[in-house]
Amino acid sequence: VVADPALMASAPGPQLVATGMNALAHAMEALYTPCANPVAELAALRAAALLGAELPRAGRGEGSAELALGAVLGGYAVGTTGLALHHAVCQAIVRTCGTPHAEANAVMLPHSARLMAGRAPREMGEFARSLRGQPVDPATAGDPAAAGDLLAALTALSGTTRLSQLGVTKSAMGEVASTAAQHPAVQATPGAGVDRDELRDLLRRAL
Ligand SMILES: [Fe+2]
Repeated sequence: VVADPALMASAPGPQLVATGMNALAHAMEALYTPCANPVAELAALRAAALLGAELPRAGRGEGSAELALGAVLGGYAVGTTGLALHHAVCQAIVRTCGTPHAEANAVMLPHSARLMAGRAPREMGEFARSLRGQPVDPATAGDPAAAGDLLAALTALSGTTRLSQLGVTKSAMGEVASTAAQHPAVQATPGAGVDRDELRDLLRRAL
């Protein structure tokens, strides 16, 4: 994650978007691990609002102080809570297939968000609301299913929307799923235990 606006401005748009999606992934996962807490949640939701608003400009290669702040806040949030399913899967993809970290994150995040909508509905509803720039409102529920499509639109700005574009093949899915299932961060995912088959389905949807 690059958080220096001047340095950001020198990065090509697609790469800047992919890096921003990695920062958004930090914000998202900070919302629902067992160590999630109100301070991390505020930081994460603010990060989502900043990154959601700034990533279209990033797609044109324009870095900004707001984009940098979003990345810092997302990093702060996940630093206090630790990682969960999305990062377990992304790290397994990178380790097994040699793909770049930011791009793997960008491709997987909409799919991870759709899976998490059922496992962390309140948090994902607030995340979707923040991505749209809407205020946090504990009195009413946000739509958890909206986050996946909002993130897919942002990922598309990077020009890479499928794992196959990164050289990941169908034959690698089983090994990636097994590696991810053994990652300790999977245990930090709320809801029922995540098994290898669920991970393989998630990966297939992103292929
Ligand atoms: Fe990351």
